[in-house]
Amino acid sequence: ARILLLHGPNLNLLGERDRATYGSTTLRDIEERTTALGAELGAEVRCAQSNSEGALIDLVHSTRTGDDGIVFNPGAYAHYSYALRDALEAVAGLGVPCVEVHISNVHARETFRHTSVTAPVCQGMVSGHGDFGYELALRSVLHRVAEWRA
Ligand code: DQA
Repeated sequence: ARILLLHGPNLNLLGERDRATYGSTTLRDIEERTTALGAELGAEVRCAQSNSEGALIDLVHSTRTGDDGIVFNPGAYAHYSYALRDALEAVAGLGVPCVEVHISNVHARETFRHTSVTAPVCQGMVSGHGDFGYELALRSVLHRVAEWRA
C-alpha cells in the first residue's frame, strides 16, 4: 500500500512553536517515524506539507494516481476549509480514505477548534494523542485498505 502523510499550515514549525501544546517533536521526526512504521507494516509512506490551501487540495487530488490512503493533519484548515473537505470527499468517493490527525486535543481548546468540517468526510479522526496519533492513524488507514482489498 502507499499512503500520503500530509500536513497543513504551520506544522512545518513543529518542535519550535508552542511546545506546551504540540511537544518538541519536529515534523521531520514525525515523517521519519511514520515512514519507518509504514515500512514495518509493508506500506510506502510519502510525505508532504504546505501552508497553502490550494497546494493542499492539489496534493489531496494527487492521491488519485496511486495512493491507497491519506493520513492528514490539516491544522487550522480543519476548522473552516470547505474546499479541502470537498477534495477529501471527492477522493474518498474514488476509494482513497483519509484519517485526520490532531496532535492536541482540539475539544479541550478554544471553541473554534471544536468543529472539524473535514472530519465528517474522513474515515475517522484522532485528536489529543500527541505524536502517537500518527501511529494510530496509519494503522487504522492500512487496516481499512486491507479490508477493502480482501
Ligand atoms: C492542530 C490543531 C489545530 O487546531 C491547529 O490549528 C493546528 C494544529 C493539531 O495538530 O493539534 O495547527 O491540527
